[in-house]
Amino acid sequence: MNILVTGGAGYIGSHTIIELINNGHDVIIIDNLSNSSKEAVTRTEKIVGKVLTFYEKDVRDKQALEEIFSKHQIDGVIHFAGLKAVGESVKVPLKYYNNNLISTVSLLEIMESHDVKQLVFSSSATVYGDPASVPIKESATLPAKVTNSYGQTKLIIETMLMDLVITNNDWQITALRYFNPIGAHESGTIGEDPSDIPNNLMPYVSQVAVGKLKELSVFGNDYPTRDGTGVRDYIHVADLAKAHVAALSTPATPNKYRAINIGTGKGTSVLELVNAFEHASGVKIPYKIADRRLGDIAECYADSSLAQSILGWQAQKTIEDACADSWRWQSANPNGYKG
Ligand code: NAD
Ligand code: UFG
Repeated sequence: MNILVTGGAGYIGSHTIIELINNGHDVIIIDNLSNSSKEAVTRTEKIVGKVLTFYEKDVRDKQALEEIFSKHQIDGVIHFAGLKAVGESVKVPLKYYNNNLISTVSLLEIMESHDVKQLVFSSSATVYGDPASVPIKESATLPAKVTNSYGQTKLIIETMLMDLVITNNDWQITALRYFNPIGAHESGTIGEDPSDIPNNLMPYVSQVAVGKLKELSVFGNDYPTRDGTGVRDYIHVADLAKAHVAALSTPATPNKYRAINIGTGKGTSVLELVNAFEHASGVKIPYKIADRRLGDIAECYADSSLAQSILGWQAQKTIEDACADSWRWQSANPNGYKG
């Protein structure tokens, strides 16, 4: 299939492109490089051994989309493009609503006019808010509002997609609700490259390990969890990438919305992740216990049985694999794609 990959220069997009090509698909990439670099595309090309079709364009630009859809026979779309910094989204919500919502509406309108109906959308476990219980099932009631504007854009887009499938227009839509993606390609040549000081745990730990940051602040050790620190479902980005290929090869029933958790089903605490990273890298991670981070929840991990039964997908890689791969990427590229 010819797959349009929006946000294909980004962290998850670049890893997914490798899996798509390895499974016989062709890709057309659109990315405005607002949170990524052309170097990621060049390195992805090296891994897959072919030149990739890349458009440096904004998904909100309908004229650019129209040209791409007219030029290429597109069979399906994976929509990664979006802004994702939770903290920033609270400070500048309009930037997030503008980018994430307008790009999605533009994309859906052009898809509809070109009769392209297969979409895989990057959603997030953030749509569950503070879950009533774990592991989280897709059937959990979604809150009307989550605590940050980033998460709210995911919730609004999912609502929009639910509305779209009931128009009986043969849309085949899958929202993949990612838990916490970590790790990097096993080559160590592509990986997560935050443009600023990382907000997320794994890139923060890797930058402490490589000496770019002094120490990790563990946000709270008084949660009702095994060791008091926050528990999350960390999923290797290569496994996550494979879930997209599985979603395309077992498409949704037309006019039936499906949302699927993509996680391992296993929770790991902050201190357990730090231990696993130290073990994989041989580097000691200095840390201090700090206050809880506003808006954080104690535990969040997936019931991943739906992905197994519908997509025949389950995570293969361990936390240790992910730590080893993150370390390989970070130690070989201490400044990310900037060299
Ligand atoms: P990323 O920032 O590395 O990749 C997103 C890409 O989209 C970037 O390359 C960016 O330049 C591009 N982009 C943003 N707005 C655009 C626009 N208007 N037009 C064209 N390109 C645009 O992020 P990622 O971690 O690869 O995440 C991919 C998707 O998965 C996002 O939608 C994100 O919200 C979602 N997601 C990520 C996580 C995570 O922890 N990484 C968790 C859950 C969901
Ligand atoms: N943490 C620290 N110190 C840090 C960073 C994080 O202790 O410097 C802790 C957090 O308190 C939390 C855990 O590590 O307990 C994971 O935090 P992350 O920021 O890595 O991930 P979150 O689960 O908070 O959020 C991530 C994404 C969101 C997404 C959510 C659910 O950042 O975009 O997962 O998918 F919505």
